[in-house]
Amino acid sequence: MIDLGDLGLDEGAHLLIKRALARDGRATVSGTSPSLAIDVPAWCRARGHAIEAVSGGFAITAGPDRWRGAERAGGDVPVADPPPRWGLAARGALVEIGAPELDLPLAIWADEAARLYSQAAAAQWDPATAIPWDAPIDHPDEVEDAVVQVMTYLIENETAALLVPVRFLGRLHPHFREVMQLLAIQAADEARHIEVFTRRARLRRRELGLSTASGQASLATLFDEPDFAIASFLLAVLGEGSFLALLWFLRDHGPDACTREVARLAAQDDARHVAFGLAHLAHQLAREPALRDRLVAAIERRHAALAHTAGLNEEVFDALVLLAAGGWEPAALRRGHAAVIALVREMDDGRRLRLGRLGFVRDDAARLSALHTRNFM
Ligand SMILES: [Fe+2]
Ligand SMILES: [Fe+2]
Repeated sequence: MIDLGDLGLDEGAHLLIKRALARDGRATVSGTSPSLAIDVPAWCRARGHAIEAVSGGFAITAGPDRWRGAERAGGDVPVADPPPRWGLAARGALVEIGAPELDLPLAIWADEAARLYSQAAAAQWDPATAIPWDAPIDHPDEVEDAVVQVMTYLIENETAALLVPVRFLGRLHPHFREVMQLLAIQAADEARHIEVFTRRARLRRRELGLSTASGQASLATLFDEPDFAIASFLLAVLGEGSFLALLWFLRDHGPDACTREVARLAAQDDARHVAFGLAHLAHQLAREPALRDRLVAAIERRHAALAHTAGLNEEVFDALVLLAAGGWEPAALRRGHAAVIALVREMDDGRRLRLGRLGFVRDDAARLSALHTRNFM
């Protein structure tokens, strides 16, 4: 027996009725609200509850359970193959039958995703305050031109690093929540990198540098790849892996504090992107050993597709030399040139190390690393 007092159904009285029906399957309801005699029967009919008038009120018997057949969308740990009928439901939610199916077919997972996401969320930095934008720039004009050229090159590579994963993110099943969050924050990282490199390029110059056909050809091949594992192998493990060495180079050899700091902060973020690529591939290789051959084929295919292109443009290479030299003195140029040669070697070492971590034997790792695009990304 529930006494609603003068509380109307349009004021929340239905919560009391619902609660009683959920607990006992039936309830007798009375009250003094003037519209109760109309509202209670209408409310019951709309929900399939049986209702009859009794003295002083209504006797209600709960209709069929509305949630019958509802299905639990997994639990703490994702299932390998969540069905489309779970739609946008939170992992672990009780999903009513009949929710619309969405075309979000991609299953992407790595156990490290949650940890990397928290790390990324904690490590977000504000371009407005994190970079010493007012630090003095007192190097020669041509060294500044070199900085602008390198920044121009970085921006287009960062753009690929943003857009390629986001295309997969848009088709990822939301059941893989942590990966979804990680790819989203990774896109925000790349957005910041694009911002700070653009801003650094324009500190002293109105125009940006050169974008070459071969550089863009290299990045375009990343857009052709429909398989996330292969795309992240080429982009994250090999490409961003190589870029880490480049960003560390700029952090160490940049001619001004601002250049050094944008590179340092971007490298910090990109190290996480590489870590996720490695973690995902290790996870995937353990479940699908045949993936290894597809990874090899992908590097070979990309190498063949780019064989006719020039690779890293001379402008970028020379800009890196000059930037590291800091001036035109022959001794400085020799130092800058040696530093860039060391950089290319360090990139190769890094790629071989990461390929080794994915289980490639030494000779294979060396051969595959050598096939990686000369554009670095
Ligand atoms: Fe980046
Ligand atoms: Fe990145």
